[in-house]
Amino acid sequence: MTAPRPSSPSRLVERIGEYETRYAALRQRGLKLDMTRGKPSPEQLDLASGLLEVLGPQDYEAADGTDTRNYGGLDGVAELKAIFAEMLETAPAQLILGGNASLTMMHDAVVRALSHGVPGGSGPWSKGPVTFLCPSPGYDRHFMICQHLNIAMISVDLDGEGPDLDTVEKLVAEDASIKGMWCVPKYSNPTGVTYSDRVVKRLANMRTAATDFRLFWDNAYVVHDLYTESDRLLEVLGECARAGHPNRPLVFASTSKISFAGAGVAAMAASPENIADAKRHLGVQTIGPDKLNQLRHARFYRDFAGVRAHMQKHAGLLRPKFEAVARVFERELADAGIAQWTRPRGGYFVSLDTLDGCATEVVRLAEAAGVKLTGAGATFPYGKDPRDRNIRIAPSLPPLSQVETAMEVVAACVLLASARKLAS
Ligand SMILES: Cc1ncc(COP(=O)(O)O)c(C=O)c1O
Repeated sequence: MTAPRPSSPSRLVERIGEYETRYAALRQRGLKLDMTRGKPSPEQLDLASGLLEVLGPQDYEAADGTDTRNYGGLDGVAELKAIFAEMLETAPAQLILGGNASLTMMHDAVVRALSHGVPGGSGPWSKGPVTFLCPSPGYDRHFMICQHLNIAMISVDLDGEGPDLDTVEKLVAEDASIKGMWCVPKYSNPTGVTYSDRVVKRLANMRTAATDFRLFWDNAYVVHDLYTESDRLLEVLGECARAGHPNRPLVFASTSKISFAGAGVAAMAASPENIADAKRHLGVQTIGPDKLNQLRHARFYRDFAGVRAHMQKHAGLLRPKFEAVARVFERELADAGIAQWTRPRGGYFVSLDTLDGCATEVVRLAEAAGVKLTGAGATFPYGKDPRDRNIRIAPSLPPLSQVETAMEVVAACVLLASARKLAS
C-alpha cells in the first residue's frame, strides 16, 4: 500500500476537540471486544459439527483396508491425501499429511534443516549463519519460529502483487546465508494479497547463492475465498520444477480454517526428494499420525468439491464482517487521508496502515476503550514495525454487530491519534 497522506492536516488539528469528546464517550460505554486473533467463530466451527458423527463405531477402515485405529501410515490416509493433492494441485505421492497444525510442520521442517540439512545442501544449516527473508507485514508466528531458533530475519516490502522481487533477487543472489523465505502466497496474512504469476515465476527462477535455499510456501488460505470467484495463484511446485529448482518449495496447508482450528489436519507438499527426506525424519519422530481424524475428514468432505462447497458456507458468514470493516473505515476515514486499508477477497485479515508513528498509539487508545487489537508491530520481524503504522484487523471471531462497533472505535482512535500527532 502507498502511505496515507492527510487531505487537510490543519482541518484535522482544528477538530481535535471533537475527536477527544467522541473518544471519551466511547470509553464510557465500557466495551469489552477482542479483535486480536484470526480464529473462526463458533458458527463457522458449527459448520463442521458433522465431522464428530461421520464415523460410526465400526467405521475405521480406510479404502485400502488400513485400520486407522492402529499405528502406521506415516504419510496419511490415502483418501484425504487425494483431496489435499487436488487442493494444492499436486500428486498424492508428493504430499504428507500431518497432525492438527501446519505450523508444527513448518517449525519441524526448519528444525530438520538446521540439524541435518536438506537435499542438495552441504550439511546442517546450523553449521553457519542462517537468514530468512520475511515479506512484511506478515504472519507473526513465522517470525516467532525464526526468532526462537536464532535465525536472522530480513524484512522485505510487500506490494499489491507480492514481495518486492527486485530486493529479494538481489539479496538471495548475494548472500549465501539466506536459506529460506516465508511466503503466504494467497490471501496473505495480513494484507490479503495473492502473488501474481510474474512474482511466482520470478521466485521459481531466481538465482540463489545458497544451493539449499527453500521457499516456505504457507498456502494457509488456499480455498478461503470470500466471494464465488477465487484469486488465481500459480502452482509453485510445477513452476519451480520447470525452472530447474524442484526442491525449492515446501508447501504447507491445513484444514484449521476449513473444519476445526484445533482439530484439523495439516499437510506438506514438496518434490519427491524433499518428501523422502521428510519421511526419513518423521519415521523417527512418530509411528504415524492421527489417521482416525484424517479418515473422518475424508468421509465428511467426500472430495475436493465438498471442501469447496463447505468454504462457500464459511464465506457466507465471513463476508458481511469484512464488508462491515470496509464500510466503517470508508465512512469514518476515507476523506481524511490518514489511513489506508486492504479490501481482501479471501483469507482472515484486513491490514490497516495509519500515518507513520501512530499504530502503537491507536492500539493503546483502542484497548483503553475496551477493544483489544493485535499488538502494533506484531506483523513485522522482531515485533518492530519500522514505521509504526501497521495494524492487523481480525474480524472473523466476534459477531457482526461487535465487529461494526469495534471498527467504529478503531476509526475514532485513528482520527484522535492522527490529529494529536499532527498537532505535536
Ligand atoms: C498464514 C498462516 N499460516 C498458518 C496458520 C496456522 O495454521 P495451523 O493451524 O495449520 O497451524 C495461520 C493461522 O492464523 C496463518 O495465518
